[in-house]
Amino acid sequence: MNGVKKTIVLLPGDGIGPEVTHAAARILADCAREFGHSFAMIEQPIGGSAIDRAGSPLPEETLNACLAADAVLLGAVGGPRWDALPVGRRPESGLLELRQRLGVYVNLRPVRLRPALAVISPLRPERASHVDVEIVRELAGGIYFGRRGREAQNGGESAFDTESYSVPEIERVARVGFERAMARHHRLVSVDKANVLESSQLWRRTVDRLAPEYPDVELRHLYVDNAAMQIVLNPGQFDVLLTSNMFGDILSDEAAALAGSIGLIPSASLGFGPGLYEPIHGSAPQLAGKDCACPIGAILSAAMLLRESFGLLKEAECIERAVDRALGAGFRTPDIASPGTEVVGLEAMTAAISRELSRILQPTEGYGWGV
Ligand code: IPM
Ligand code: MG
Repeated sequence: MNGVKKTIVLLPGDGIGPEVTHAAARILADCAREFGHSFAMIEQPIGGSAIDRAGSPLPEETLNACLAADAVLLGAVGGPRWDALPVGRRPESGLLELRQRLGVYVNLRPVRLRPALAVISPLRPERASHVDVEIVRELAGGIYFGRRGREAQNGGESAFDTESYSVPEIERVARVGFERAMARHHRLVSVDKANVLESSQLWRRTVDRLAPEYPDVELRHLYVDNAAMQIVLNPGQFDVLLTSNMFGDILSDEAAALAGSIGLIPSASLGFGPGLYEPIHGSAPQLAGKDCACPIGAILSAAMLLRESFGLLKEAECIERAVDRALGAGFRTPDIASPGTEVVGLEAMTAAISRELSRILQPTEGYGWGV
C-alpha cells in the first residue's frame, strides 16, 4: 500500500467541541487503517479551555503546533463560563487569531440537503431538495478584524467596529469563488450591501472586474437582505455564494437550517499555510457531555480535510458515503430526529458511520478502493 504520512493537529476546544472532534478523529483513524495511511494526531488546547489551562485562548504552543502541521481540525470554542471577558480575550478571539496566523482567507461551507433528511428541513420537500450551495466566505478581513473601540460621548458610552476591505483581499477570495463555480455548476452569486456600504461598492466593482477572466461563470450580484430571503424562497437558484466575513457567517447558519441542522455542516478554511477544518456549529454548552451532539459536521470536515489538504479524494468520498448510509439506515442524533428513525447518541452515530465505512471498503461491495 502506498500510504501517506501526515500530521494533524486536533483542537477540541469547548462545549461539545471535544466530543465531535474525537468522533472525527476516530473516523480519520479508521480511514488511515483501511487505506494504509499514517495520520499522527496531536491534541492542543484552544478557546475557553486554553484560557483555563494556559491563560490564553491561543497559547504559543498551540499556534506553533498548528503552523507545523499538515492540517488542523477544530471542534468549537466559547461558552457562558467566559462570557464576561472583553472581546479581545474571549475564547472566540483565539479562533480568530488562529485563522489570521494560519493565513486562511477563504472559508468553504458546502450546504447540501442529504437525501435521507428531506423530511426534517423546515422547507417543503420540493424546495428543500434543491438546497445545494457552496458558500465561499471571506475569512481574514472585514468587520471581524477592522478597527474597533469604545468611546465616551456626551457622558454616554458608544462603541464601534469597522468594515473595511482592500482590493487584494477581495480579489483573492473572489478568485476562489469563480474557481469553485467552475468546478460546480458555473453560477456565482456575489452578496453585498452595495446600496449602503462603501466597502460593498468596492467589493462589487472588484468582482465585476475579474468576471471577464471567467467567461464560463454566470455572475450575479445580490444585496444581502434579498439573498437571505432568496435562500429560503428559492434555494435552487444558488450554486456558489461569495460573501464577506460577516455576511457569510450569517447566511451559512441560515442555509444550514434548511439542510436540516447546523450540526451537519462542515467547513474548510484555506490560504497560505495548513488548512483549518471545523464544523460550522458552535460549542452548544447545554449539550456538552451528554452524548447527544451531532458528530456529522465534524466528520464531514475531516472528509474535506482529506480532500482539500491531502488530495485523498477517494477517502473523502468514502467518508461522505458512509455518512449517507448511516443516515439512510435510519440513525439520527436528536437534532435530526423524525418519526420512524432511531434516535441515538453521538457515540452510536459515530460507530454507525465507522461500520458503514468498513462495509464500503469490503471488496464484496465492489468498491475496492485502496484495499
Ligand atoms: C463560525 C463561528 C465563528 C465566526 C465564531 C465562533 C468566532 O460563528 O465559524 O461561524 O463568527 O466566524
Ligand atoms: Mg458562525
